[in-house]
This record gives sequence, C-alpha cells and structure tokens, in this order.
Amino acid sequence: MRIVLVGPPGAGKGTQAALLAENLGIPHISTGDLFRANISQGTALGLEAQRYMREGNLVPDEITVGMAADRMAHADAADGFLLDGFPRNIAQARALDKQLEEAELGLDAVLDLEVPEEEVVRRIAGRRMCSSDTSHIYHVEYSRPKVDGICDVCGGELYQREDDSEETVRKRLEVYHQETEPIIDYYRDQNLVVTISALGAVPEITRRALDALRGGT
Ligand code: AP5
Ligand code: ZN
Repeated sequence: MRIVLVGPPGAGKGTQAALLAENLGIPHISTGDLFRANISQGTALGLEAQRYMREGNLVPDEITVGMAADRMAHADAADGFLLDGFPRNIAQARALDKQLEEAELGLDAVLDLEVPEEEVVRRIAGRRMCSSDTSHIYHVEYSRPKVDGICDVCGGELYQREDDSEETVRKRLEVYHQETEPIIDYYRDQNLVVTISALGAVPEITRRALDALRGGT
C-alpha cells in the first residue's frame, strides 16, 4: 500500500507510523526524521533545515521534495510506503503526484489523524525521543520509560526535541492550519481521505487505522 499520514504536530503520526509500517510490511518514511538525522550528522542539508525547524517553519520545498524523492526511490515506491510528514503543502502534494504518475503508480489512502488542540499541546510538552532510534517515542505521563531518561528498547538516552518548546509548538500549529490542512481537501477531491480519531490508547488507534485503511479504500 502507498499511504500518506497527515495530522497536526503531536497527533501521534510517528508513533502510529512505526506500528502501521511494521504491520503492513512497508517502509516508514518521515521527512522530519530524515532532517533530524541530517542535523545530527552535521550535513549541509541538516544545517540548512535546522534554521527553519527551530523556528517552527517549513523547510523550503526545493530541499524537501528532492530529499523525499531520493528516499522513495531508494525504497522502491512500487512496493509501497507510509509517508509521515510529507507532503506538507499543496506544492509538495503536486510534486508527489507527478513523481508517482511518472512511475505509473498512485496513492491508496491518506490517513488523517484527528486530535483536539489541547491534547496535541499536552502530547508535545511531555514527549521524549530516543537518541538512537527515532521510532522509540515516549511521553512523561502517557508512555513512561521504565528508567527515567533511558529508552526501554535500546538503552539510548532520551531527549526533548529543540522544536518542542511552547512558543515553537504554537508556530508549528499555525503553519499546520495554513499550509498543511489544505492538502486534506486536495486529497478529498481524489477520494483518498480516511479520517480517524487519534484519541485513546496507542494500540486501539492502530487497530482503528488498520480497519479504516482496509474498509476505506
Ligand atoms: P515532524 O518531525 O514531521 O514533526 P510534526 O509533524 O510536527 O509531528 P511531530 O513529530 O511533532 O508529532 P507526531 O504526530 O509524529 O507525534 P508523536 O508520535 O511523536 O516535523 C518537524 C519539522 O521538520 C517541521 O516543523 C518542519 O520544520 C520540518 N519538516 C518535516 N517535514 C517537512 C516537509 N514535508 N516540508 C517542510 N518541512 C518539513 O507523538 C507525540 C507525543 O504523544 C509522544 O510523546 C507520544 O508518546 C505521545 N502519544 C502518541 N500517541 C498517543 C496516544 N494515543 N495517547 C497518548 N499519548 C500519545
Ligand atoms: Zn531506543
């Protein structure tokens, strides 16, 4: 399956994407994770992206579209993928459509995670990330590690993302409403959107998503 995951910052995209990708046997491609990997490796792309990310702004399309296309080519789009955090505006959605058309492929579904704004703020404020593996995501209240500050799975150190400060989160939410939400209508016109509530326990949401993807496409 070829799936796009969309939802506000902190909706649980990364958490669900790791579980859904494993369940469906497809690669999880996150542009946010790709940027963070570039930042920690100190690449030129990472340094450029960091300037935008720390302000809560989108990284320019010229950088993002090429990086996402390279990653997808590497995964072989014909075998399926789960895109998390891309596309994030109409121009990126058009670029993805073009890339898929050239390969004579299409999307199967756009999974839209719905979460009220207060909950998103709570989730982001308490989020802790594993420094060794981006799919190991914790929360100080909702998903606590057994030992404070240490990843249960790999022993990696947990840290708080630089763009998770209250001020930057507010900016990210504003950018989401202005730039990213319009892609939901863009995909609705293509009859691809499946909306689910992302409130509740993590496994329950995964089940809801799988049911919706099976029934909704
Ligand atoms: P990105 O990394 O994509 O961040 P985001 O979209 O803001 O989403 P988040 O990672 O904040 O949240 P999430 O929905 O994945 O939630 P999570 O699962 O972690 O982008 C970061 C930046 O990179 C952007 O601002 C931009 O600058 C740049 N960028 C990336 N892609 C780009 C693009 N295409 N174009 C341009 N720029 C781009 O969960 C959040 C917390 O909630 C965790 O603590 C988790 O444990 C907890 N949680 C999850 N599910 C539940 C649940 N069911 N109940 C309780 N708690 C839960
Ligand atoms: Zn870990």
